[in-house]
Amino acid sequence: MELSWRVILVSLSLCLAIILRRPPLSREGVADIVFKNATIYTGDPQNAWAKAIAIRKGRIIEIGSYDIVQTNIGPNTRYEDLHGSFVVPGFIDSHVHVISGGLQMLQVNLQDVSSQIDFVKQVQLAVQGVEGGHWLLGGGWNNEKWGGELPSVSWIDSFTEEVPVWIYRMDGHMGLANSRALQLSGIPENIADPEGGSFIRSKDGSLTGVLVDSAMKSVIDCIPEPTTQERRDALTRASKLALSNGITTVVDLGRYFPGSPTTRVWNDYHDVYKWADQTGSLLIRLSIFFPLETWSDVYMEVKQTGKRLSQNLILGGLKSFADGSLGSGTALFNEPYADDPSNYGLEISSPEAIMNHVLEADRRGLQIAIHAIGDAANDRVISLYQAVNRLNGQRDRRLRIEHAQHLSQNALEIFGAEGIIASMQPQHLLDDASFASKKLGEERALKESYLFKSLLTRNTTLAFGSDWPVVHLNPLQGILAATKRKPTGWKNSWIPAECIDVEAALQGYTLAAAYASFLDDEIGSLSRGKYADFVVLSGDVFHDDGEVGVLATYKGGIRVFSREVE
Ligand SMILES: *[C@@H]1O[C@H](CO)[C@@H](O)[C@H](O)[C@H]1NC(C)=O
Ligand SMILES: *[C@@H]1O[C@H](CO)[C@@H](O)[C@H](O)[C@H]1NC(C)=O
Repeated sequence: MELSWRVILVSLSLCLAIILRRPPLSREGVADIVFKNATIYTGDPQNAWAKAIAIRKGRIIEIGSYDIVQTNIGPNTRYEDLHGSFVVPGFIDSHVHVISGGLQMLQVNLQDVSSQIDFVKQVQLAVQGVEGGHWLLGGGWNNEKWGGELPSVSWIDSFTEEVPVWIYRMDGHMGLANSRALQLSGIPENIADPEGGSFIRSKDGSLTGVLVDSAMKSVIDCIPEPTTQERRDALTRASKLALSNGITTVVDLGRYFPGSPTTRVWNDYHDVYKWADQTGSLLIRLSIFFPLETWSDVYMEVKQTGKRLSQNLILGGLKSFADGSLGSGTALFNEPYADDPSNYGLEISSPEAIMNHVLEADRRGLQIAIHAIGDAANDRVISLYQAVNRLNGQRDRRLRIEHAQHLSQNALEIFGAEGIIASMQPQHLLDDASFASKKLGEERALKESYLFKSLLTRNTTLAFGSDWPVVHLNPLQGILAATKRKPTGWKNSWIPAECIDVEAALQGYTLAAAYASFLDDEIGSLSRGKYADFVVLSGDVFHDDGEVGVLATYKGGIRVFSREVE
């Protein structure tokens, strides 16, 4: 009895306090615009569902029922009726290569090629459009789609002739050069494999033109750098594609892969991103990661400009590579590849080699993201990160592993406990599912691949992204991949126990992704004070499996993409 009176008294005084604190017009002021009549998944754990949003100067000042939002309406407030549409926070893609992707939109795209004949046909078609003196560039091919045989100069030399060709495997860890490109790059027939890479040879020992990881360097160095204008156009194209997919923020891992010059990322930063930001032509929010070895330059830049140059441009942190990829046989494993017992994969940079850079950068408050795909690479990066936590003391550092595709039981247990973020790309599993068993053996493939559910139940932050242009830039497809794990044509899920629910997958593309980039105070959920970045969907993403598309995208309360519907 006594207790319940106390409860009532406390509740009454709480109510009073709330009433007194809430003047008729909210302290946040009058809304510029109110969006109403929507079903809004806010992603905010305190307040997951809403009907209306009030926005002032691009930020959310109130979100909730229409009645709650009423307190922010003044004579000049505009309304937009969303006609009952389903709304989610603007998607954040945690791993893209913006300029490479934007450039590639104009290059030959071999993503859908599924036979040697088709490969040859597509390259033949593309080479006709190449002007004299230019290279034929592009890629996206996946030899697993035609049984695994790697392409070769013999497929394309006869018709590419004097046009140098360089076309990537989909994962960017291999590429095919034709003989003209090998010649221009000064690669002799008897060249030795470099550290961290290899030249694939045919049975008779001759070069096939397929170069792996660091062996790609001489060709890449030889390709004329696109002009500043071409790169600016690439940014615009990429940004528009992102917005049309509901993506309002991307984390750019740069035009940087083992063997490529670090200056590219810096030139892009100065000539393209900063330029776009300063001229008001940056259409999305963009956080950039720079090559780890340039950490002191990033630090100097942060000292001058701060990490947030503007609401659109953010200095994210530093990126390095521990290994290659599964498809290229260069992801680093504790046990050898099942289809090649002499191969454990490739260690691109050992923890010892990058330890000092990582420690120094971390001491200066910079965030680190390291690419690790194989279980051994993940184990090594996790030990490295444990050392950072130990040697540099406790700090909110949000260390990231990019991909984290194959994890040992030990890694799984440590990941979340050490506060390490798993930055993963669900769409990759759709490709890997078809050949992981061949490369790893059935048991290992099923035990340790894309452990979304296991990571989440161990409190690991899962940030999702695409790795575009490796796969399509489409978070709704990514959500499907994470929740269903069903490659095209499959009846059953691949490793069904690791499917996660829609809300967890959505979080991976919103709040968890924001957290993974230190942006959760500004974006990631539709919460008071954050930017009004949101997506209007054509259906209920929680229930309409695979049928949902993007109708409109809003960034800072402004419509930046709209699909005209008749
Ligand atoms: C919300 O939109 C639907 C569809 O246009 C409409 O039928 C309904 O009347 C609207 N509700 C309100 C409260 O405006
Ligand atoms: C995960 O976090 C929750 C809430 O903080 C906690 O109750 C739970 O014990 C944690 N689980 C593990 C496996 O650490």
